Amino acid sequence: MEVDRESMNRCGGNTSDLEEEKCSDNDFGSSVLGTQEYWENVYQRELETFKDIGDVGEIWFGEESMNRVLRWMDKAKIPENAAILDIGTGNGAFLVELAKSGYKNLTGIDYSAASVELARSVLLAEDLTDVTIKEMDFLNCQGELKGFDVCIDKGTFDAIILNPNNTEEGKRLYVKALRAALKDQGFFAITSCNCTQEQLADRFKEGFELVQQLPTPSFQFGGKTGNSVTALIFKRVV
Ligand SMILES: C[S@@+](CC[C@H](N)C(=O)[O-])C[C@H]1O[C@@H](n2cnc3c(N)ncnc32)[C@H](O)[C@@H]1O
Repeated sequence: MEVDRESMNRCGGNTSDLEEEKCSDNDFGSSVLGTQEYWENVYQRELETFKDIGDVGEIWFGEESMNRVLRWMDKAKIPENAAILDIGTGNGAFLVELAKSGYKNLTGIDYSAASVELARSVLLAEDLTDVTIKEMDFLNCQGELKGFDVCIDKGTFDAIILNPNNTEEGKRLYVKALRAALKDQGFFAITSCNCTQEQLADRFKEGFELVQQLPTPSFQFGGKTGNSVTALIFKRVV
C-alpha cells in the first residue's frame, strides 16, 4: 500500500522523550489520510489483492504493535469473554490475532465499506465466524457502541486528526464516542505514530486515567532519544 508516511508522522518522529518537542495534537496539518475516500480506495485495492493472492495487506506499525497490546492484555488478565472493540479495524488483522489468543467477544468497526468487506473475508478465511464487523463512522455512531471492556485503536486516531474538514471537532467527537463505548473502568489501548504520550494524555484527560505506557522501540537522532510509535493504556473513569 502506498502511504503518505510523512503525514502519519507529522511531529518528525514520535519524540515522546524529548522535552522540547511538546507540540499539541492541534499542531498537525491536514492530509488525505484523514479522508474516508482515501481509506475506501486503499481497502478497495487491498480487497482485490486479498481475493487474487490472499495477502491481507498492510499491518500498521508491524506485528509487534499487536503483540505488545496482547502481552499487556495477558498481564492485565483481561478475561477471554471481555467485550473488545477494534476502532477502525482496517483489514481486521488485529481481530484475527485477538481471536487466536482466545478472545471470544470481538467487534470491529470501520467507516470504509471495502475495509469491512476485507475484514470479513480475512476472518472467514481463518474460519473465525463469530466476530462482529460493522460499517460505522466512529465519530457518528449514534450511541450504538457501548458496554465494551476494552477498546483498541491502532492508527485510527492518527488518521482522524489529519482530517482536513473537522480536526478539532473530530477529536472532540472521538473522545465522546470512546467515553460512551467503554464501561466504567474499561481500558483503552491506543497505538499512535503521530502523537506523543503527552499529547495523548492531554487529549484523553477527561474521563480517562493513563495507567501504563507500553515499551516501544526508540531511536536516537542528534543525541536525542525518541520513539517511533507511542502505545498507551488508559482506564475509563467517571
Ligand atoms: C491507519 S489505518 C489502521 C487500520 C487498522 N487499525 C490497522 O491497524 O491495520 C486507519 C483506519 O481507520 C479507519 N477510520 C478512520 N476514520 C474513521 C472513522 N471516523 N470511523 C471509523 N473508521 C475510521 C480507516 O478506514 C482505516 O481503516
